[in-house]
Order: sequence, then C-alpha cells, then structure tokens
Amino acid sequence: MQKLVIQGGNDLTGSIKINGAKNSVVALLPAAVLSDEETTIYNVPNITDVTVLKQIIELLNGKLTEENGSIKIDTRNIINTTIPEELSNKLRASYYFMGALLAKFKHVEIYFPGGCNFGARQIDLHLKGFESLGATVKMEKDKFIIEAEKLIGNKICLNFASVGATINLMLAAVKAEGTTVIVNAAKEPEIVNVATFLNNMGAKITGAGTSTIKIVGVEKLGSAIIEVIPDRIEAGTYIIAGALLGNNLKITNIIPDHIASLLAKLNEMGVEFKLENSELTINKCENLKPTDIITQVYPGYPTDLAQPICVLLAKANGISHVEETIYEKRMGHVEYLKKMGANIEIEDNKETIIGPTTFHGTEVKASDLRAGATLFLAALTAKEETIITNIEYILRGYENIVKKLSDVGANIRIEEIE
Ligand code: EPU
Repeated sequence: MQKLVIQGGNDLTGSIKINGAKNSVVALLPAAVLSDEETTIYNVPNITDVTVLKQIIELLNGKLTEENGSIKIDTRNIINTTIPEELSNKLRASYYFMGALLAKFKHVEIYFPGGCNFGARQIDLHLKGFESLGATVKMEKDKFIIEAEKLIGNKICLNFASVGATINLMLAAVKAEGTTVIVNAAKEPEIVNVATFLNNMGAKITGAGTSTIKIVGVEKLGSAIIEVIPDRIEAGTYIIAGALLGNNLKITNIIPDHIASLLAKLNEMGVEFKLENSELTINKCENLKPTDIITQVYPGYPTDLAQPICVLLAKANGISHVEETIYEKRMGHVEYLKKMGANIEIEDNKETIIGPTTFHGTEVKASDLRAGATLFLAALTAKEETIITNIEYILRGYENIVKKLSDVGANIRIEEIE
C-alpha cells in the first residue's frame, strides 16, 4: 500500500507530455485478440489497468513483446478460457473480452467487471446487444456464459449512448454474418481509435464517431498497427493544474478538439491559455469567475473531468454548480475536498460550490480514480502537506504522476504505508 505526499504551493512551469488514453488502450488490448496474426499497439501508457489486461491476454495464451511504450501481441495461439473473477473484477474494461472472445470463439466465460464505484454500473445494453446478434447470455452464480452457434448482424438501438456498450458491440459484430447497425452509438474519440484498429485488421466499420455505426462482418482479421490517441482526461487534469498554478506550463501531445468542452469552460472562467497545434500553454488565473457545468456524453462536458474541475470552481469568486448526469453516484471527492476547506453542498447529483476557497493540507482518501485526481489538484494548491491514501485508484489512470509533476516543480512523492 502506498500514499502520495504533496507539499503544495509551488508554481508549475515546464512541460508535461500527455500519454496514450486509458479508455482507448483498455479496449485496444482486448480488440487485439480478434486478430489471427500479430498486432502492435504504440503509445501504450504505463498504468495499472494495462498491467491487468496484459495478464488476461497472457492467460488466454497470447504472447506479448514490449518495447519503448509499444506492445506487440501475437494472438496466433490464443485459447478460450474462463477469465477468473480476480482478474475480471480488477477493472471495468475486462468486459471488452466478452465481445472479443464471443466474436472469435462464439463462447466466453467471464465475471462481472470491476472499476470505480459510481452506483449501479449496468451492462444490460452490452448483454442485450449480444442477444440481438444471436447469442444467449446465462448467469451461473456470478459468472456470465455468453455463447452463440453463429452471430448474425442486426440493428441494435442503444437507449443510452454508452461508451462500453458501443465498443463491445463493435467487437462482437465485426465477424458476424451480414451487417450490424448500432443506432444511438456513443461518439467518444476512443471509439474511433478502436474502430480504426479493427479496420486496420481488415474489418469493415463505418460511422465511428457519429451516432450510427455500420459494421459489415468479415471472416478473418489480420495483422495491424495502431497508435493510442492522447488521453483527453489526463490532458484536462493537467490543464486544470495549469489554471491553478501554471507559470507558462505547457501541456504537449494533446488533440484540442477532444477537450473543446473543457476549454470553453475555462474561457468562461477567465483562464488564459494559448493553443498551438498539439500544445497548450497556460498560466494560473488569480481572478476566476464561477460557472455551471452539466456532464454530457461526448462532445459535451465529460463526466471524467467533472470532479477535477471542482478544485478550480472552488477557487472562483462566487457560486458554481456541477450536475452529474451520466452516473448515479460520482461524488466521492466532495467529503475530502470539504475536509481540505471547500464549501460544497450536495443535493442529489448536483453540487453547489461556494468560492473562493483556500485549500489546506490534511489526510484524505481517493475514493475513485478521478476523485483521486481532484484531491491531488487541491493538494498542489495547499501550503501545508497533504497525504492521499488509496492511491491505487490514481495509478490506474495517471502514468508516472510523481515524475510528471515533480519535473514541472511540484513537491510530490510516493511513500510506502507501513
Ligand atoms: N449504462 C447502463 N447500461 C449499460 C451500460 C451503461 O445503464 O449497459 C449506464 C451506466 O450505468 C452509467 C452510464 O450508462 O450510468 C455510462 O456508462 P458507459 O457505458 O458510457 O460508461 P463505461 O463504458 O462504463 C467509459 C469510461 C469511463 C467514462 C464513461 C463515460 C472506460 C473503461 N470507462 O465507461 O471512464 O466515465 O465511459 O465517458 O472506457 C474514467 O476514466 O474515470 C471512467 C470512469
């Protein structure tokens, strides 16, 4: 067990390079299993979610070769075996092996996925979608057994534009007979990244990134390469750090379009930044204006940045509101931000944030990945020392966080908890 120790107050200056997107790579690795040859994924982030997915691929008899941030995956000898509960429930994205193994072997046995606790995180749309393609879904104790004699393309209308369901159904449909159309598909950039990888293998997917995705089934998928897109949520987190403490802080390797909704909010708050191609330079803003945020599916304001921006809103002069609409319960950061001095009231899924706040250091706990990010942002502004426990959540999504932040001037370290 480890803790993060942060002595805040320092300006952040220099540059932070954004790594490959967690929510892309966690789908690209399971997607690789669909190939009958060798695939290579470039720009793979060094985060613990990736470590678990690699363990699952090795359990399936895939061979992995790693070099300078890329992973070569040899899937020629892949076998179909049950993915045990202790691996299935280590992360959300284990569910992508449902679609991938179902497509490849017409049979998959796996347990309920893990991931951060935001209340009920159903996977009914994934399962109904598999059934629409001709599969049967059985539950044996806590294990899902999903199988089909053959998969046949169909029209699947999602009643919510779920990222996970959209990707999982693309994976399942890619080798089905005939054509599958996913209506009300999610449009997140990670979906386009996965569709590109599958198309590079020989799949026939059109429309990824729009609300209607068409998949014409193919018999075989071959070798392919793909580069993981930059992580828009990691980028957003460090951009918020720049708005709090930046002194010409540069955030590099970003795709500005992917973070347009965040940048629009920063503009409203009076934050100044300069964008040049894939680089953003930002300075701290001493006179922040409050604003209101409602989380939405892409391209709206992302739920994953609704927690981190609370630190900036708490620093603003006045009252801001944040409404979470994607998840039933994603407010784990509030208790600890309050412990650090924030004035926040919660009613249902709405936060009222009354600023300005001077955060003070204390001992806090990361209740989930982005709650952890929220706490390290607040800690970076506090003059006293902050200790953050439960940091395994943070390490699931932020690569080399200590090095990245120390390199730009933060006083941050990881210590073992005895
Ligand atoms: N939902 C259902 N039924 C389903 C699927 C989803 O009711 O079958 C509901 C969920 O209960 C939830 C909402 O739809 O309330 C959103 O779920 P979605 O499927 O869109 O999310 P996800 O695929 O489980 C991915 C990211 C999340 C990110 C969301 C939304 C991965 C591994 N996770 O989750 O990332 O918040 O999309 O953008 O890609 C994070 O990175 O911190 C994170 C939580």
